[in-house]
Amino acid sequence: MPTVYLNGSYLPMEEACVSVMDRGFLFGDGVYEVIPAYGGKLFRLSHHLHRLQNSLDGIRLSNPLSIGAWQKILNEVLEHNREQTGVSNDQSVYLQVTRGSAAKRDHSFPDRITPTVFVFSNPIAEPDPVSTTQGIAAITLDDIRWQYCDIKAITLLPNVLLRQQAADSNAAEALLIRNGLVIEGSASNVFVIRDGAILTPPKGEQMLPGVTRDLVLELAEQHALPCHETDISEDTLRQADEVWVTSSTREIVPVTSLDGKAVGDGLPGPAWKSMIELYRRYKDAVRNGTEN
Ligand code: PDD
Repeated sequence: MPTVYLNGSYLPMEEACVSVMDRGFLFGDGVYEVIPAYGGKLFRLSHHLHRLQNSLDGIRLSNPLSIGAWQKILNEVLEHNREQTGVSNDQSVYLQVTRGSAAKRDHSFPDRITPTVFVFSNPIAEPDPVSTTQGIAAITLDDIRWQYCDIKAITLLPNVLLRQQAADSNAAEALLIRNGLVIEGSASNVFVIRDGAILTPPKGEQMLPGVTRDLVLELAEQHALPCHETDISEDTLRQADEVWVTSSTREIVPVTSLDGKAVGDGLPGPAWKSMIELYRRYKDAVRNGTEN
């Protein structure tokens, strides 16, 4: 039975209970992060905690914990659940902060309310060999989400519906189009390779600033690979030599079929192979304690 953290206590997941009046439950009034840990070492933690702070600011909720307290809790949950991961000790930690529960259901913020803090972890499976040898299928869909997609809000109903629409079409991801531009995936950021350059949409309120996305940009810069943050039209997406999606749980995955048509030659491309190699090297350095 996995151990979770809830409001100051470590306890078996089965025993963790939240009030039915919690505003996360009633309104989706909260934010979250998903942070991988390799060999028990939290990956890009400062980036995730920085984004958490931005999300909390975005919903006008003060951070209930200091950076040190977050670190302690996340590491303790990882440690409790270590034996469930086998030798790798690779886990992903989910943390969620909601505005808390109040006696009365009222849309506006209650006066005195204590946030609910919940953390759990899951073993990370090895990357799916099919998705890395053959790539994944994606479809394009209209971006039906709200205006503040840079806030990592737990209110994920549009993302859930979009992802399900992809699943119903036997696709692993939906790429979201707004005003003729590709924005991101339902739970990932998007990259396009065109004429040898790595392209990804610029940050803004319309998309989540992905931690994996930033690492890909950093690695590209370090290794002098041509890379640009730029608007990507639907046409450019459709003419791309390669398309990738990135996230903390999926890393970097090649999209080899888009709306039923092959991307490039329909196989993971050379640019992806170079980037995943750099990413894995970085990951190993974190695991071995020489990078963070
Ligand atoms: N989602 N865009 C969206 C809408 C996402 O939900 C995610 C990740 C990303 C990638 O961000 P990062 O590289 O920081 O994981 C982009 C997480 C994994 C989830 O909801 O489970």
